[in-house]
Amino acid sequence: MSDFRHGTLARFLLAEESMIPRVTVPELGRMKRDGRRMVCVTAYDYTFARLFEKAGVEILLVGDSLGMVILGHETTLPVTLDQMIYHTTAVVRGASRALVVCDMPFGVCHGPPHVVMDAAARVLKETGCQAIKLEGGVRMVETIHFLTDHQVPVMAHVGLTPQSVHAFGGFKVQGRGEEAARRVLEDALAVERAGAFAVILEGVPSPLAQAITARLTIPTIGIGAGPGCDGQVLVGYDLLGLFDGIQPRFVKRYLEGGQGIVEAVEHFAAEVRSGVFPGPEHGFDP
Ligand code: KIV
Repeated sequence: MSDFRHGTLARFLLAEESMIPRVTVPELGRMKRDGRRMVCVTAYDYTFARLFEKAGVEILLVGDSLGMVILGHETTLPVTLDQMIYHTTAVVRGASRALVVCDMPFGVCHGPPHVVMDAAARVLKETGCQAIKLEGGVRMVETIHFLTDHQVPVMAHVGLTPQSVHAFGGFKVQGRGEEAARRVLEDALAVERAGAFAVILEGVPSPLAQAITARLTIPTIGIGAGPGCDGQVLVGYDLLGLFDGIQPRFVKRYLEGGQGIVEAVEHFAAEVRSGVFPGPEHGFDP
């Protein structure tokens, strides 16, 4: 082996060769160009991040939906930046292959771009995640520009943006009718021009999402936006049947996990009460 093979660079290259590479922002662009659909699931902790990654998802989104499914709030509005950082740090520890994206919570992105940049820098430095997500189209253009100019990869989010729940008068489908559809299209085009690497299309009519997907060069990731997007995202707790709060019609439950958990804990409780658990195999010899 030459001296070169013993060098630092060589060790780095050999380590790289033996690792499954992490999904990157450019890779998502290639997936769109190749017509490969991408899969995104929301995760809020280490254990679920590991399980979802084992299932092969490309993107783990630490969504501010954690305010509803983890913290029990009625909307995502009360979530703080510290809470997002706390949960994203745990997800990053469980993810070696998926791209981890941290949602910017309500109130953080409404300041001037350099203030949002400070918050995004905190997120990237403190959590080790690879990108941030923020809600809003045309109104967020200046901020997205500033962040991407400063090397922060931004996933945008347009259509039914949950942080606008009060302005919308509820969690309502957006983009119905010609004028509303034009506004959603403009939002999507604007975030692409500003430098976003992908855009979530939430709660918009399927033909509109399909038309937007055809117009954009960046990937669209749909939720309640029909099959015409480049990828799909679901809240992990919804697809596993763990969350029994709001059940949007676009959710498909792939497991009745909540019921499974109740039954398992009932079983445990019955065995404790009857003295079956713990058995001798669960104890320690003197
Ligand atoms: O907060 C979230 O989980 C989201 C996704 C559902 C897109 O924004």
